[in-house]
Amino acid sequence: MKLAISGKGGVGKTTLAGVMARILDERGFRVLAIDADPDSNLGDAIGFSEEEMRCARPLSEMDDFIRERTGSTKGQYGTFFKLNPKVDDIPERFSLIKDNIKLVILGNITKGGGGCFCAENVLLKNLISYILIERDEYVIVDMEAGLEHLGRGTTEYIDSLIVVVEPGKRSIQTAKEIKRLAMDLGIKHLSIVGNKITDDEDIQLLKEHLDGFSYLGAIRYNENILKADKWGISPYDMDVNIRKEVAEIVDNLNRLRP
Ligand SMILES: Nc1ncnc2c1ncn2[C@@H]1O[C@H](COP(=O)(O)OP(=O)(O)OP(=O)(O)O)[C@@H](O)[C@H]1O
Ligand SMILES: [Mg+2]
Repeated sequence: MKLAISGKGGVGKTTLAGVMARILDERGFRVLAIDADPDSNLGDAIGFSEEEMRCARPLSEMDDFIRERTGSTKGQYGTFFKLNPKVDDIPERFSLIKDNIKLVILGNITKGGGGCFCAENVLLKNLISYILIERDEYVIVDMEAGLEHLGRGTTEYIDSLIVVVEPGKRSIQTAKEIKRLAMDLGIKHLSIVGNKITDDEDIQLLKEHLDGFSYLGAIRYNENILKADKWGISPYDMDVNIRKEVAEIVDNLNRLRP
């Protein structure tokens, strides 16, 4: 199953992605976790140690590798480079591994009018396409609110775009914008997860304002999640409630997706 997670800044995308990866791992599935946020921290949310994370380097910063694969230097526009660089060895070669989970950190995808056409973007986009189309494991992509990494032709392979929302106007507004982008890209299943929920009224608010999304479940506002962040512990290892909540979300996903 291929899952992409989006939503407004700070809503809890990485928290959800990290716990989800651990739940699937616990159930014996192989997971490929893709950190597609330039300000990457999915590794911490999964539970990689500080030491393990020190060895991690985003792909977008591997200048020599980008040149080797694309035939062009990072950041170069308008020059000749390979449009279909080899990418199928990247998950095995460059991931951090924890039990059944492989983590690939993409780094910064350059934004620009009309979809910036430079070497590192070509490599990263090819990698995402390959992962969404070819890999036969659970794929979880932790993204930004924008859907920059997703191109036409690959989005049909996403089983669900999960939008994380807080009970608040701004986060709901972002979810609506993501929906518009997602429809343009032809994404076939959109779902929401409520986060930082304090009562049933919050859940009702989200459901009311976000029709057209499948509702997967909610994660309660939880001081332990904040503490986990402060202490450098993964939310999964810190708190049993979030494990239960996310396990239910995974079950609902299996039940609700088309
Ligand atoms: N249910 C919750 N209860 C309390 N705090 C939470 C909860 N979920 C997430 N947080 C806290 O909110 C902050 C943002 O969470 P997280 O990094 O997962 O969000 P994000 O959407 O990935 O953010 P970004 O847009 O910066 O990537 C973190 O400090 C996290 O510990
Ligand atoms: Mg994040």
